[in-house]
Amino acid sequence: MGIKVNEFQKTITLHTQNTSYQMKIGNLDYLIHLYYGPTIPDVDLSYQIKQYDRGFSGNPYESRNARTFSLDAQPQEFSTQQQGDFRAASIEVVNGDGSYSFNGRVVDYKIKKGKYCLETMPSVFATESDTADTLEVTLEDAVTGVQVILIYGVFEEADMITRAVKVKNTGTKSIQLQKIMSTCLDFLNGSKMDLISFPGRYGQERQVERQPMTHHIHTIGSVRGTSSHQQNPFVILCDRDVSEDYGNCYGFSLMYSGNFLAEAELDQYDQIRFGMGIHPKQFSFEIKPGEVFEGPEVVMAFTTKGLTGLTHLYHDFYRKNLCKSKFVKDVRRPVLINSWEAAFMDFDDVKLVEIAKAAKEMGVELLVMDDGWFGKRDDDNSGLGDWYVNEKKIKCGLHKLVEQINDLGMKFGIWFEPEMVSEDSDLYRTHPEWTMEIPGRPAVRSRNQLVLDMSREEVQDYLIKEVNSILNDANIYYVKWDINRSLADIWSNAQPAEKQGEVYHRYILGLYRVMDQIIKTHPDILFEGCSGGGGRYDPAMLSYYPQYWVSDNNHPIDRLKLHYGTSFVYPISTMGAHISDSGKFVPLRTKAVVAMCGTFGYELDATHLSKEEQKICKEQSDLFRKYYHIIFEGDYYRLSNPFEVGNMTAWQHVLKDKSESLLSVVVTNLTCNGPQEYVKAKGLDPMAFYSINDGEAIYSGAALMNAGIPIDREIPEYTAFQFHMKKID
Ligand code: DGJ
Repeated sequence: MGIKVNEFQKTITLHTQNTSYQMKIGNLDYLIHLYYGPTIPDVDLSYQIKQYDRGFSGNPYESRNARTFSLDAQPQEFSTQQQGDFRAASIEVVNGDGSYSFNGRVVDYKIKKGKYCLETMPSVFATESDTADTLEVTLEDAVTGVQVILIYGVFEEADMITRAVKVKNTGTKSIQLQKIMSTCLDFLNGSKMDLISFPGRYGQERQVERQPMTHHIHTIGSVRGTSSHQQNPFVILCDRDVSEDYGNCYGFSLMYSGNFLAEAELDQYDQIRFGMGIHPKQFSFEIKPGEVFEGPEVVMAFTTKGLTGLTHLYHDFYRKNLCKSKFVKDVRRPVLINSWEAAFMDFDDVKLVEIAKAAKEMGVELLVMDDGWFGKRDDDNSGLGDWYVNEKKIKCGLHKLVEQINDLGMKFGIWFEPEMVSEDSDLYRTHPEWTMEIPGRPAVRSRNQLVLDMSREEVQDYLIKEVNSILNDANIYYVKWDINRSLADIWSNAQPAEKQGEVYHRYILGLYRVMDQIIKTHPDILFEGCSGGGGRYDPAMLSYYPQYWVSDNNHPIDRLKLHYGTSFVYPISTMGAHISDSGKFVPLRTKAVVAMCGTFGYELDATHLSKEEQKICKEQSDLFRKYYHIIFEGDYYRLSNPFEVGNMTAWQHVLKDKSESLLSVVVTNLTCNGPQEYVKAKGLDPMAFYSINDGEAIYSGAALMNAGIPIDREIPEYTAFQFHMKKID
């Protein structure tokens, strides 16, 4: 059991293989946070907290004349509201009597075998090989009866701890919840910590920024209704000296696809408070007496092994405990070609079959028909919402088209953007009230489209029915689920005025319901998520889809940064990556090496390729299949940082037993008559010898890691190298 209670000390300690996390029912029954870090025994760490009279940091009334216990200075598992703690709050609630106050003290705790599930949202699960336990601690406000239930999931072998929160109204009057953080982690000394986040924009998602913690609240979040291109719900707090290979790092990954907030505050006493959860912007959720509100899950990890160590923890965990699709590990994902950059919306059934035939020669196994196949959809002004086949384009009908592709020995995939509606569509004409539009105000148009009110059950039911009927109609192997705008005009015609503050969150709950039902009905379909590229790339989405489109930016040199940033938390097996026409001066082979850091596919008009180019593509598709197990199951190493000035970007995948590895290098910036460059491998067996590229050379593992491999200089720009290393027995 990874959860140890010492009733005498009043401590609860969570243990994973290499970490411990301790809390204590402390003074006046407040739940005090004591420790998260490398394994310690179940000793009481409360001696770490020195109590002083801190002027202007007040004391709970019961402390009377003792002026040394202040909630403004105590490390806590969840903060109070209006009890003299002025740091970033875990909760903001308006009680039935109009007061803004929550004073939670421990009234109960429970330990359960196994990992909890959330009822309204996805969460990670335990497999048969996991030892997982659940701790629930209930805090109660004695005046209002409002309870906050803190939930912890402890995965021993995986070294992961999850947290979630429920708010229960046991009182007699409705309350309005205005802020709820799923996790609160207080560090006793954070003055020498850095915060790493993953900001970006459309076409440049998940770039990497590292900043020292200073005395203010650093906030990272999204108010775009989706987890967004601009920020990602993953944050690292680490010691200032942390590198890829060394040092203490904490990771926080939020399983939520809507507005989120991460806030890290370095307070007046150099302590850090970190909180993460639903963004409080335009959030006000009524909880009636007897009702419970559930917040999303935060997946936390700690390691002493630097950023690579943290990445390995998340990659292993998310490859095993996040998504139940058979494509996660049991079935190899096919090499695909997508029609988007080949034809955009200008295609018909004949064109698609031609592309498929040419792609077959390139070793492609799946044709994806992207946007443009439905309703009246010749450009992005119309058609969204009408999920029936456009027979002017797909003249033979969907069933026949799929049959033709299948007859080529290929599989067929299809694109949807279910959450959106065009004004010029039958759906909008029939149900204008299903759209999010604030009464009396023309709605913001983005990509010429409006947003369906996913919080409405009729809208959810319509989408489940329409999408399922297309999926039932033909032999569909793959679905790409897109969303191409941010949410604005937050309003639901189905909710009264006083409940409009619930709509952002209800949208996400509705979306989860739709995806859940469709995916459960079609467990054999491979789903890929997409949001104008990687705008909603988050673990909640990845619990439904085993892969996600990284970015609409297919330029292979930009992709080096995109893959680098995405790799910090998301497994390589989740990263949708294609070869396209983007990157005119980049050789096809280099494009392929870059796309092999992901699910690998093509996004171009295959009928335009020369025989020689088709042959190169065939070789690359075959190589991807040959290396698939290393790329998808191996440990991933970032060997260089593409954001730093350098001549090359390198990365490596190594099988867990170190028997095989694939090291890739893209030369990006050769200087005239410059120095010889070397790439040092990681993660190999230092005692072993490795055959390079099926016997081209034999090198020692220790030498590969410590001396490195010299990279040829006499090469054209943007040349790529791949070193496949196989251990010699
Ligand atoms: C945005 C996606 O990222 C693209 O790949 C493509 O599917 C378009 N949407 C289609 O509208």
